[in-house]
Amino acid sequence: MIERTADPREAERFIRLFHAENPSLGGLYPRLRDVAREIARFGTYTHTFEELEFGARVAWRNSNRCIGRLYWRSLKVRDRRQVRTAEGVALECVAHLREATGNGKIRPTVTVLHPDTPALPGPRILNDQLIRYAGYRTRGGVVGDPRNVELTEAAKALGWPGGSGRFDVLPLIIQPGRGDRLLCNVPGDAVLEVPLVHPEYAWFAELELRWHAVPAISDMCLEIGGVCYPCAPFNGWYMGTEIGARNLADTDRYDQLAVVAERLGLDTSTERSLWRDHALVELNVAVLHSFERARVTISDHHTESRRFLTHLSREEKAGRVCPADWSWIVPPLSGSATPVFHRYYDTRVLTPSFVHHR
Ligand code: ARG
Repeated sequence: MIERTADPREAERFIRLFHAENPSLGGLYPRLRDVAREIARFGTYTHTFEELEFGARVAWRNSNRCIGRLYWRSLKVRDRRQVRTAEGVALECVAHLREATGNGKIRPTVTVLHPDTPALPGPRILNDQLIRYAGYRTRGGVVGDPRNVELTEAAKALGWPGGSGRFDVLPLIIQPGRGDRLLCNVPGDAVLEVPLVHPEYAWFAELELRWHAVPAISDMCLEIGGVCYPCAPFNGWYMGTEIGARNLADTDRYDQLAVVAERLGLDTSTERSLWRDHALVELNVAVLHSFERARVTISDHHTESRRFLTHLSREEKAGRVCPADWSWIVPPLSGSATPVFHRYYDTRVLTPSFVHHR
């Protein structure tokens, strides 16, 4: 459901939350009155920068699926709400990548572009992340990332020539509130990548695997106090398992376990050799080692699990519930060897939040 007018009750709830968590500010009642008037007159209202920054940070804090929320207060908020053209959005996405990449010292960042308004929807990005690798359908199967086959075909339909590599960065497809979609190449110097090597096995480099440094989700709406920002790309840093136990390992992604197992000389004729498990560990060792060697921020699932429990207890101490989705929080590798496995979580859904609308 896409509602372009701001719900006054949502607005009031948010403004109250903002003031409750920032008691030194004062001025709750005049602000409530102004917001109500603005909504009555225009169908929406404009957040102050402080409200926007707080709203975006709390949206991260409320992300049930995210294990990395300990640092939610440090989210850098780039206020670009005046930007609504496709060209403007493209420039901001590239600037976002450059700033957030920080030469390897990755900074959690969100760029907030023009919101939906009663008069006009805000812009949207069709790519689910700012950096995605193409997937080309060929007679021998998909070359590249099978997850992005449709996106690759959409880019081609808009005139992208395409390539033939396994790690070709796709252009951004931007839909402005009014007018035609724009295709925008992401300049190479805005995309930091890490070639994968293994600390012990020299042959690992011959697999020619790599991954990009910054995961920047670009297809979720940021909802704050009844206002929807449909274009608000945000990033954190990677946890190794996202790459080593999913992107490169899943059978419907790069599907590398058999390749790694074969190089390791494992017995793949029986499941009981646990060759998949063994290959998974070595692939994940390679991911963590390679990022560290390239001086690119990454965390391992043991450390990130402990941080998450620290976050939970801090939230409890602050008198808040910290909602979490067990099936997303538990890492896809060695789940039971991490403390987040051995408990249940509150499953409430809170706002502000990042949500999928399509
Ligand atoms: N799992 C996604 C990927 O592998 C990224 C999701 C966001 N991850 C993060 N560390 N902020 O690309």
